Amino acid sequence: MRHLITLADLTTPQIERIFQIARQLEDALDQGRRQPLLAGRVMALVFEKPSLRTRVSFEAGMAQLGGSSLALGSEAGLGTRESLADFARVLSQYVDVIVARTKRHDVVTNLARHAACPVINGLTDYAHPCQALADLYTLRGWFGTFGSRPLAWIGDGNNVARSLALGCGKLRLPMVMATPEPYQFDPSFLETLRREVPQLELTVTTDPGEAVRDAIAVYTDVWASMGQEAEAEKRRRAFGPYQVNAELMSRAPRDAVFMHCLPARRGEEVTDEVIDGPQSIVLRQAANRMHLQKGILVWILNGEGP
Ligand code: CP
Ligand code: NVA
Repeated sequence: MRHLITLADLTTPQIERIFQIARQLEDALDQGRRQPLLAGRVMALVFEKPSLRTRVSFEAGMAQLGGSSLALGSEAGLGTRESLADFARVLSQYVDVIVARTKRHDVVTNLARHAACPVINGLTDYAHPCQALADLYTLRGWFGTFGSRPLAWIGDGNNVARSLALGCGKLRLPMVMATPEPYQFDPSFLETLRREVPQLELTVTTDPGEAVRDAIAVYTDVWASMGQEAEAEKRRRAFGPYQVNAELMSRAPRDAVFMHCLPARRGEEVTDEVIDGPQSIVLRQAANRMHLQKGILVWILNGEGP
């Protein structure tokens, strides 16, 4: 049985296969064809944090594939009415796949340990694998193959950054991070990277201008993620010099794209002129969440390919 908890769970050929399925489904949809590859299958969504993109793109994608979905509310009682193990054992007898967005990463890993069906991580404080896969799929679609120019991550070394680092390693896209020292990857995650993606070319700096100099993509995310609201003021001070604005983008190559997983806090990590500007591909990224996740669902549920 296949789970997707972090990108360490996928090999490079598996990522390529998911991209291939996603591309076929995206092309078919462009031609008005919706293939019922998952007819009769049921997906449960268990979300402890807000979501627009992840929840809706999974639900819409599942509907297009002929399956159905159930978004469980807090009354289902994840971690409150019964043990997590019992919750997972029971729920997974009714549904074919569970997508979970939880505050703590170990809740998703425990769901996967006890569920009798695949579990997909829809974001935790540690990882956001579906986002990173959609982002890399977007970059592939935009640039074709990757060369030696890096993806430049500007800001917090957070869940999205960690998943991108694993994904960049698997697809051999160099990554450079401009991050204030206290918010850089911790030693334990650096060890994970060394183990899982020893081939990753990762450069870490505190100079955003240096980071974007040769980039194909300039990527940022909120300075305070969901659950870090109490630290927002402290983080605003630390990340102020890391705002992606027109001046920073002018230091990147002219063909570099601007990326953001959204939702954005305009005026903080990115200015309107950049996120709404000609280099921004944020809406394409958001659209690709659905195509890519359809690829994940078909790959996981139909046991396709490697
Ligand atoms: N990017 C992303 O995961 O968005 P949501 O929080 O709206 O799902
Ligand atoms: N880092 C952000 C990503 C939101 C999609 C968060 O965890 O809130």
